[in-house]
Amino acid sequence: MYPLIRPRRLRSSEAIRSLVRETIISPSDFLVPLFVVEGKGIKEEIPSMPNYYRLSLDNLTKEVKELWKMGLHSVLLFVKVPDSLKDNKGSEALNEYGLMQLAIKTVKDACPEILVMTDVALDPYSSYGHDGIVADGQILNDESVEVLAEMSVSHAKAGADFVAPSDMMDGRIISIREALEDEGFLNTGIMAYSAKYASSFYGPFRDALDSAPVDIKNVPKDKKTYQMDYANRFEAIRETQLDIDEGADIVMVKPGLCYLDIVREIKDEVDVPVAVYQVSGEYAMVKAAAEKGWLNHDAVVMEQLTAIKRAGANIIASYFAKDAIRILG
Ligand code: PBG
Repeated sequence: MYPLIRPRRLRSSEAIRSLVRETIISPSDFLVPLFVVEGKGIKEEIPSMPNYYRLSLDNLTKEVKELWKMGLHSVLLFVKVPDSLKDNKGSEALNEYGLMQLAIKTVKDACPEILVMTDVALDPYSSYGHDGIVADGQILNDESVEVLAEMSVSHAKAGADFVAPSDMMDGRIISIREALEDEGFLNTGIMAYSAKYASSFYGPFRDALDSAPVDIKNVPKDKKTYQMDYANRFEAIRETQLDIDEGADIVMVKPGLCYLDIVREIKDEVDVPVAVYQVSGEYAMVKAAAEKGWLNHDAVVMEQLTAIKRAGANIIASYFAKDAIRILG
């Protein structure tokens, strides 16, 4: 007559719900992306990323001190490079006194114990807005990997704890690992963007860094010859396994929300930590809908972050990190 088993018993109050809750978001889950620009006193809001800013080095110091106090102890650095310093080979990426190298030192000076990860790819430095070197309408693989390996060593010399290659060239992890070992950086880690999809959710990020592929003849208009086809699953496992075999310490899936099936599959398959990048377009969507009053911002942010962790993320790179700390109270 009556159901003997009533799953609703375990939902009947907040106390019992919190007792049986399986996934809890905490400050140590987050990796905070930061955008750095040249200049002084600059804190400019990115138009397609409300309440997210490009910071000059002085403001970067303030920001990381604030993050540290909030319990956010890991950052992922990106730089916006002026057009005048861009070329096809991304030469500026290797400048010992370049913006990234200075940013790494600035963060470590401000907060010696904070974990510093750096983006490794040519796009912010490329006059064509590509992650590798362009020739005859193609992205050159091996020549690009050479630059990425040198770039990684340069970041390690400046004090980076981890390099995070986001370029999706073949064989880059082993080349970077070998270059780091050769230079004595045995403890510099690699977080590989292993399953990085050719996604339309990166738009606001490309606005932030002015790094979109340029529209000129003989330059590919998109990144589909190196980033993955979003229709594919098996390929994600293969890419991830390759990166682990080549020496990746952490692997990453990117973007987040649309790819949580991939996160779970990879989590079940591998035994290294799995990171997920909730990308700029995911951030922008929530902010825009909340601004219109169509979604409850804080509730949706926590639902999304919890779903990412539940899917198997050990690390979440997210522009919502500070929001999450505020919401957690
Ligand atoms: C660059 C890079 C991108 C992102 C991280 N590293 C953009 C791209 O591949 O075009 C996207 C991050 C985001 O959208 O938040 N290699």
